[in-house]
Amino acid sequence: MFWVVAKKALAKKTFSYLKKPMGMYHVPALMTEAMAALQIHPQGVYVDATFGGGGHARAILAQIGEGGRLFAFDQDEQAEANAQQMPFAAHAGFRFIRANFRYLKRHLRAWGVQPGEVHGILADLGVSSHQIDTAERGFSFRFDGPLDMRMNPGEERTAADWLNESTEAQLQDLFSRYGEVRNARTLARICVKLRQSAPFRTTHDLVYACDQALRGLKGIDRTRYLAQVFQALRIAVNDEMGALEDFLREATEMLRPGGRLVVISYHSLEDRLVKNWLKAGNAEGKPESDFYGNLYRPFRFVARKPVEPTESEIQQNPRARSAKMRIGEK
Ligand SMILES: C[S@@+](CC[C@H](N)C(=O)[O-])C[C@H]1O[C@@H](n2cnc3c(N)ncnc32)[C@H](O)[C@@H]1O
Repeated sequence: MFWVVAKKALAKKTFSYLKKPMGMYHVPALMTEAMAALQIHPQGVYVDATFGGGGHARAILAQIGEGGRLFAFDQDEQAEANAQQMPFAAHAGFRFIRANFRYLKRHLRAWGVQPGEVHGILADLGVSSHQIDTAERGFSFRFDGPLDMRMNPGEERTAADWLNESTEAQLQDLFSRYGEVRNARTLARICVKLRQSAPFRTTHDLVYACDQALRGLKGIDRTRYLAQVFQALRIAVNDEMGALEDFLREATEMLRPGGRLVVISYHSLEDRLVKNWLKAGNAEGKPESDFYGNLYRPFRFVARKPVEPTESEIQQNPRARSAKMRIGEK
């Protein structure tokens, strides 16, 4: 029901920013739906936790008036450089913060925003198209480049370090937990064997290891396999699950009663964590009660099921196909 009403309301409005070319940095997913979910008040305080190409940020700013504020986070210096050249960066209410969103609270407080004062927080998880398509960042198996995968190049360990330094058991766990890789054990064994003759350095070194692990296996889609392995490593390198849990905890504190938390995820583990958090305020999704037996439930689900892109959005932007958006109201 929420979406029927929201979409009708949105259809009447002309969102000129949706028609403008976005440039090549990133095409935002679920734009109309995310804006409806945030229920923007022109004088409200908002957070875009994942600025990327700034598509969502720009849409939020277009609805914020005088007195409204938008704090945009991204840990990637290229996203920061991108933000600096956006015309909307001059908006008096806009601040870009280059930081991991797991430290949301301390950064917002530094800018004078206290817990309980934020109207809406959006997080569009994962990596931007710009990051994926830049060979030197090492996120994609499609280009040969350094095996890096750090969203924040200031972090110490690259993907190559993970592959060269982890034990076989750690690698197996990483591939199976984050990538649901079918033969995680074999792949881990091959990685350990290969690095004995030469350490992993490039994305194509890892592609070679994957091809070795695929030998003799029938019925496996190679592209899907490579995507799963690369995604698993990326999640580990950037501690994406740990950062998401810290973010959810801090976002819950920073929102005001009635404030909206909107999270778009692209991986089943992320979606499960967000769902659990909105259900019970913890990562396990287990309801906890206080001394008097009152259930602690910081959020009300705005829609029980996740919101997914329409067929037409997927046609225009295939990278949005696995997006799932969850909305909670504090
Ligand atoms: C899918 S893109 C966001 C795209 C954005 N919504 C847009 O409209 O262009 C994800 C962005 O989040 C950033 N990111 C991912 N995890 C982060 C974290 N823990 N802290 C800060 N930024 C993060 C990435 O660097 C990337 O630029």
